[in-house]
Amino acid sequence: MPPDLPVLDAAVTPVLNEAGPALSPALASLCSRGAAFLGTRYAIMGGAMSWVSERNLVSAISNAGGFGVIACGSMPPALLEQEIAATQALTDKPFGVNLITMHPALDDLIAVCIRAGVGHVVLAGGVPSGGAVRTVKDGGARLICFAPALVLAKRLVRLGADALVIEGSEAGGHIGPVSLMVLAQEILPEITQVPVFVAGGLCRGDAIVGLLQMGAAGAQLGTLFAATHESIAHPRFKKAFFGANARDALPSVQLDERFPVIPVRGLVNAGTRRFMAHQADTSRRFQAGETTREEAQLSIEHFWAGALRRAVIDGDIDEGSVMAGQSVGLVREELPVAEVIARLLAQAEFVLAGHGQRNAV
Ligand SMILES: Cc1cc2nc3c(=O)[nH]c(=O)nc-3n(C[C@H](O)[C@H](O)[C@H](O)COP(=O)(O)O)c2cc1C
Repeated sequence: MPPDLPVLDAAVTPVLNEAGPALSPALASLCSRGAAFLGTRYAIMGGAMSWVSERNLVSAISNAGGFGVIACGSMPPALLEQEIAATQALTDKPFGVNLITMHPALDDLIAVCIRAGVGHVVLAGGVPSGGAVRTVKDGGARLICFAPALVLAKRLVRLGADALVIEGSEAGGHIGPVSLMVLAQEILPEITQVPVFVAGGLCRGDAIVGLLQMGAAGAQLGTLFAATHESIAHPRFKKAFFGANARDALPSVQLDERFPVIPVRGLVNAGTRRFMAHQADTSRRFQAGETTREEAQLSIEHFWAGALRRAVIDGDIDEGSVMAGQSVGLVREELPVAEVIARLLAQAEFVLAGHGQRNAV
């Protein structure tokens, strides 16, 4: 029995079958809307992670009954086309593609998804244009958007989003300022027209059950999946996760209000400390008239260029960007994706079967 699982009695132990654990009627009912929307067995999404969410991890999540999402990041259309085809060769289950709205080739990337028959497109990085929304929907794909506040959630639904993700500031990667607990209370009771998936800080099935009972359609997890066996992240990247505590995953800090920094949550390392020094030096040079405001802003923005790749692919966890959410403190070992999903479900079943949360480890 894995040490981090509650003891399960026969009544709640999920039945393992070829396609993964069968759900109890209670859990199946809580997950039904999300699973139906995604076309999956479980309402569990693997959050898109640049460099990490490629064919291997995405297909593993989808094959295990979840919903994998390819992170397009800065890929050009031809590369995305290859990645989608390679993923389709590894799974016949549904998966999605996450596109960043400010990508200069966004229209071409959407066209690639539609041509390849991708069923769900996630548009991240800001409210998408009406044109992008129409192209996704006219192409027959379902549109998923991120809603960082209730007012934006309402606007995205009016704009045509078929589902929303609300991602709390506990999450890894680029983050907003509000925690999932607050976003959930603000948004879940109000937005019922479309399924709403929750993300940020999630690592256990019992916690996810609480959110499903509040009205969430399903959960999206990133940090936990980045450390799985099928993730191509460098062994040093995964090892950094296993040794980290929640408080080691901090948002990047903006030193000078004249030069905005979009907060990114990741493990503190030599690179994050150098980033502070770089901002201080850039501010000083601007103050002294040695650089223009535009040059200074660009130099701050470019500091992290290529840094996630350096950490994920090259394993440079000192100078690279080791994006991770606060849930990193709960990720302790490298497990296959199917095992991770089975554990989440077992934890969910345990609490739904009426076992006191106090007994759960
Ligand atoms: C290493 C890493 C890279 C990420 N890259 C992206 C990305 O390219 N696009 C995106 O929309 N979200 C990205 N995210 C956010 C995830 O999709 C997901 O929403 C988030 O990890 C959920 O929170 P959690 O890490 O606490 O589970 C990234 C997260 C991590 C940890």
